[in-house]
Amino acid sequence: MATSADTFPAGFLVGASTSAHQVEGNNLGSDWWALENREGTPLPERSGDACDSLHRWREDMDLLASLGLNAYRFSIEWARVEPAPGQFSAAMIEHYAAMVRYALERGLQPVLTLHHFTHPLWFTRAGGWEAPDALDRFSAYAAAVAPVIDAGVRTVITINEPNILAVMQTVLRGEGELATGLGGGLPDPHRPTAEALAAAHTRTAAELRQRHPGVAVGWSIAHQCVQHLPGGEQRAAAYRHRHEDWYLEHSRGDDVVGVQAYTRTVIGPDGIVPPAPQAERTQMGWEYYPPAVGEAVRRTRAVVGDIPVLVTENGIATAEDDQRIAYTTGALQSLAAAITDGVDVRGYLHWSALDNYEWGRWDPTFGLIAVDRHTFARTPKPSATWLGEIARTGRVPAEQR
Ligand code: BGC
Repeated sequence: MATSADTFPAGFLVGASTSAHQVEGNNLGSDWWALENREGTPLPERSGDACDSLHRWREDMDLLASLGLNAYRFSIEWARVEPAPGQFSAAMIEHYAAMVRYALERGLQPVLTLHHFTHPLWFTRAGGWEAPDALDRFSAYAAAVAPVIDAGVRTVITINEPNILAVMQTVLRGEGELATGLGGGLPDPHRPTAEALAAAHTRTAAELRQRHPGVAVGWSIAHQCVQHLPGGEQRAAAYRHRHEDWYLEHSRGDDVVGVQAYTRTVIGPDGIVPPAPQAERTQMGWEYYPPAVGEAVRRTRAVVGDIPVLVTENGIATAEDDQRIAYTTGALQSLAAAITDGVDVRGYLHWSALDNYEWGRWDPTFGLIAVDRHTFARTPKPSATWLGEIARTGRVPAEQR
């Protein structure tokens, strides 16, 4: 798929992403809600009403479409669709099917995620991914939401960032800590969870393909864009294998690979090398590193081969919208260069459509659209208009700074 350096290929998707728990609000039946609200929770803030997108999803899509974007990635909340084991809510399935139909009416290509970090609390209480029937449960859930896919979805992501989900299990078990981006890197993934997620993906993806011929199925992997200093080669390769390549290898039979990247990790002979003290950082504490996404799609291609790639997340937590535009400019340029070099990238979905609940915190603002926490009023930022223009014209943005 060749492209001139200043234009994305015809049909290239430019849109934005959200996940259900982060925007819907009052996700009472989920394990995250339980974690946020339990006594002594390690999470500083709760999701509460979130962005109230459970009720305002039409407004969200109207805005994205009016800005010119042509794709919207959102997720189904398993806990709403299956509030008790084996008990499926026809009303909630219809809710998500209506979202798909509305997206299509508004000219937004729906990219559907089945699982984005949260589980029904009953699933987690029964042993989570280690329970003997976990795969059957996930497979039954994926079968139950067939009407949502049949409403017109062309791309399904089974599981969002299994590699981060497996690391979260390590953290939740008190067996490791998530570094704040100040250089500690990720703790090891919880192996049994990682194995179960890979098996769940492989099985469910095959079932989905059989049930919905023509629908592209894959999963989305988080990239740390691992780089090594002299002498750090082996450690870097091991870290990359543990946290990324192992998951990418499970994408090899897929129709599409979701790529998500925000920053990089540098590894020297003694381990992770934190960014220099003067390095620019985002609100997450992560190093400001716009070319991450281009490197991630190249890495994906190197591991999985020539399977179409969709950037399902990339963005920046910042209060300065100019910085979001500058970051995204660099990101899109790195992506365009990778496309020129032969990586088959089908689209770019910015994280995130809305300022939303960042897994325990409200202060990191990733959104193209600001949301008032009390009135839920949505206000597009200049970056939203800017990205909409890129979607309309297909033009790769020129350098900003
Ligand atoms: C996740 C999102 C999250 C974002 C920023 C990804 O890890 O899929 O849910 O909000 O990165 O941290």
